[in-house]
Amino acid sequence: MKTRIATLILISLCASISAQNKIDPKTIDAKMQWFADAKLGIFIHWGIYSVNGIDESWSFYNKKVSYPEYMKQLTGFTAKNYNPEAWASLIRQSGARYAVITTKHHDGVALWNTKASDLNVVKMTPAKKDLITPFVKALRNNNLKVGTYFSLLDWSDKNYPGFLKDSSKYELKKNPTKWNAFVAFNQQQIKELSDQFNPDLFWFDGDWEHSADEWQAEKIRHDILAANPNAIINGRLQGYGDYETPEQNFPVTRPRYNWWELCMTMNNNWGYHPDDTNYKTPFEVISIFADCISMGGNLLLDIGPKEDGTIPPEQELILKELGQWTYKHSEAIFKTIPGLPQGHFYGPTTLSKDSSNLYLYVSGKTAGKLMIKGLKNKIEEITVVGGDQKLTHRVVGKISWSEVPGLVFIDFPLSAADPYMSVVKVKLSGPLKLYRGKGGFN
Ligand code: GLC
Repeated sequence: MKTRIATLILISLCASISAQNKIDPKTIDAKMQWFADAKLGIFIHWGIYSVNGIDESWSFYNKKVSYPEYMKQLTGFTAKNYNPEAWASLIRQSGARYAVITTKHHDGVALWNTKASDLNVVKMTPAKKDLITPFVKALRNNNLKVGTYFSLLDWSDKNYPGFLKDSSKYELKKNPTKWNAFVAFNQQQIKELSDQFNPDLFWFDGDWEHSADEWQAEKIRHDILAANPNAIINGRLQGYGDYETPEQNFPVTRPRYNWWELCMTMNNNWGYHPDDTNYKTPFEVISIFADCISMGGNLLLDIGPKEDGTIPPEQELILKELGQWTYKHSEAIFKTIPGLPQGHFYGPTTLSKDSSNLYLYVSGKTAGKLMIKGLKNKIEEITVVGGDQKLTHRVVGKISWSEVPGLVFIDFPLSAADPYMSVVKVKLSGPLKLYRGKGGFN
């Protein structure tokens, strides 16, 4: 009887947790696998804002330029050197496993041939062509998963209330007909994305301006999954997404979410911004990436192509340097699981899926002793990933009467160091076993 009551309590608890999350946890695990294994994605912010190199959409919303002046950029958007195959192959070269491209930003300008509005690059710009279809094809040719960024809010649409930071077109509550027309338009565009591109990942943005009910978020999710049950939806759908999307801010402690993705710019802007030269170095990008995967997240690293479709050389360089590093260390990156909890090793770590191989990330030109605390396993072998060097180690401080493991010191010579970040592979006698206690303290 007791066990039956306990089971019932457990069942109702699980039901209420999944009702709260509005998502069935069983189906989600399987469809998220490629995402969990992918680790690195490339974000692309491309739009008319690249013509003058100003803030994407926000520049008129925040009144840095007037709306007409912003929209004049339509006449300068040519895409004349756009080579989607070259973009996809550069993305592949970076080591990324997926890409997410802006199909429509907050300014409402669609990059595909939408039937729902004339505000698209085919009708309104000298580019005169659908830019998304060939890119989706090129991504798939290069064995990359396809992500479509779509802004739910549309500051250009006549039926959308929002416009500038201090003015709206109308008050939503007083004008349900207009709002319903907007929702229908939005859903038509989302359906077009779904029908035309069958994205592996829908990356929504701008959900903060309205509630789940107002967006009809549940219907959006339902319709996407009815067309493709394996589609992944990011977390910007007012509670109806599959994973969290922290933006620009780095977690210090490991987030409790199963899946998350840090989206980050290379300099300080999402779109092409020639006056922003504050680029992160390849070393910094690699360090951030290692930190993300160590804590169970992905990195979605942004590029902002120019209006003609060329990728700025600074950005290309970062992708290529990152690529050399990811290919050299791929065994420690892709298809791994998050590494040791904090406190065992002072640096990022990952583990093979069976947890019998531990990967230690060692920054830059570090040499000397690497220390691991609380490791109960025997070590079978230590090597440097991407080379054939074997490393020696010794265990010190193991007290015969104590269950606390000794400290592992690994000799790491400068000759083994990668210019950016080395990875040391510690082959364990079996699945990882850790001591998590406080030593002699209670
Ligand atoms: C923010 C901004 C947007 C950018 C996005 C990327 O939500 O509104 O401009 O596209 O972040 O994550």
